[in-house]
Amino acid sequence: MLPNTDPTSTLAWKELEMHAHEMEGRHLKDLFAQDPERFKNYSQTFEDILLDYSKNIITQETLDILYRLAEDCGVKEATEKMFSGAMINGTESRSVLHVALRNRGKGQIMVDGKDVMPQVHDVLTRMRHFCEAIHSGKMTGYSGKELTQVVNIGIGGSDLGPVMVTEALKPYWIEGREVYFVSNIDGTHLAEVLKKVDPETTLFLVASKTFTTQETMTNARSARQWFYDHGGSEESVALHFAALSTNIEGVKEFGIAEENIFGFWDWVGGRYSLSSAIGMSIALTVGFDHFIELLDGMYSMDEHFRHAPLEENIPAKLALIGVWYTNFFGAETEAILPYDQYLHRFPAYFQQGNMESNGKSVDRNGNPVDYQTGPIIWGEPGTNGQHAFYQLIHQGTRLIPCDFIAPASSHNPIGDHHSILLSNFFAQTEALMNGKTARQVTEELKAAGKSDAEIAELVPFKVFDGNRPTNSILVRKITPYVLGQLIAMYEHKIFVQGIVWNIYSFDQWGVELGKQLAKAILPELKDDAKVAAHDSSTNGLINAYKAWR
Ligand code: F6P
Repeated sequence: MLPNTDPTSTLAWKELEMHAHEMEGRHLKDLFAQDPERFKNYSQTFEDILLDYSKNIITQETLDILYRLAEDCGVKEATEKMFSGAMINGTESRSVLHVALRNRGKGQIMVDGKDVMPQVHDVLTRMRHFCEAIHSGKMTGYSGKELTQVVNIGIGGSDLGPVMVTEALKPYWIEGREVYFVSNIDGTHLAEVLKKVDPETTLFLVASKTFTTQETMTNARSARQWFYDHGGSEESVALHFAALSTNIEGVKEFGIAEENIFGFWDWVGGRYSLSSAIGMSIALTVGFDHFIELLDGMYSMDEHFRHAPLEENIPAKLALIGVWYTNFFGAETEAILPYDQYLHRFPAYFQQGNMESNGKSVDRNGNPVDYQTGPIIWGEPGTNGQHAFYQLIHQGTRLIPCDFIAPASSHNPIGDHHSILLSNFFAQTEALMNGKTARQVTEELKAAGKSDAEIAELVPFKVFDGNRPTNSILVRKITPYVLGQLIAMYEHKIFVQGIVWNIYSFDQWGVELGKQLAKAILPELKDDAKVAAHDSSTNGLINAYKAWR
């Protein structure tokens, strides 16, 4: 179904290998010195997003070869297949249509000869009515009190997206509304949330695509038991529990009323599901209209990604620059560094998005790949990261390409906080690019009154090589629309990379083995009998646990 090209067999790949040797000897400082228009030539604005990719170890030649690589690997063809509903999730025989969830245009999207858009609109309409009923107080809890508290029970894609977005859009929260998230099977997570909520005013959303996930189902059952123990009843479950799932039968068995079931479809991957019914906690917290603005933003980036040529395509550029470092510079990780406290879960969200999608070592023919695929994604908000791990980015032995993200306007313009924050945002990429030479260090130390001997001793430690690549993504403000654009931008970056690496980005078989083994071990933990069925380490750990518990 998808184009199937070993990227290393393309001429572009071979050219990139040779070109990388040349570029390894170039310093970003020199690239800037040689081209006074470098910012203009290597930046792009799309609506309220400015992408500056000039501080990358690239030239126009690099980009041209990367674009050819993308063409040879069929990126444009694959993109069209995704948008038109082809079954590009080959190992699960499914379409990949998170783009349908936020298709704000009039076009049809066909799966198996059927337009999926009417069902998408139907669920959105039901979500709107549900939000209105809760917000207006028409739908209340069993005691007649308003449902002002929401607890979303879900994990992975059924948790990280809603957590990230509700945090990112805190300035848009409806007054008097509270939202909590329970994901971890560790009972502590549920217990701590339940301490904060009142059974009479709480709506539990059981968010699970499959409605079989052990963590979510266990947490949901325990939450229901707590509800019974605190004044709720089987009849009032209908008022206090809703489900967001593709498994309608499973939800009904749990006892959730049919009118409180909001479905989605197997062509929505868990980590791509926040614009589906999984986004209910977002809509309930920031209001349905803001949820729609988020979808509008996603749609605008979807359209840009679908139609812009590679040379003007922001997600494709980010993806290809990532391929450049991963496959030709040996970079193993990428950091996402938002200079916005509200975006504090953005790196974690795309850690799942990226690593669960492209953490694959078998190509689309089922053969092991002999090149690197998905990078390790990590990050924390600036400036906190600066005082924690930036040391390694500046002076460590590894090359860590970083994305710096910042809004020009803050939702909280207190004193000069935002100028200070942004001065750090600008300074870091400048420092990472330029570094500091031995001569500069010497001059500084001289000015500080150090002796020649002291200077000679200190210089090696204070030199920064620089030449550390970064993208800067400056947005006007973090609104629901802009956030939607940023989310779709990174989603499509992941897509392009998966196509180039010739892997399937929309399955996640790698998470299954641990789940299976945990299910096998659980019954062994019931009594105190020693286990001997595993390797000596696993036996030893289980037996130590039994002795200590
Ligand atoms: O175990 C991985 C995973 O399947 C993720 O892909 C998914 O987001 C998460 O579990 C939760 O799955 P579900 O929504 O079906 O409960």
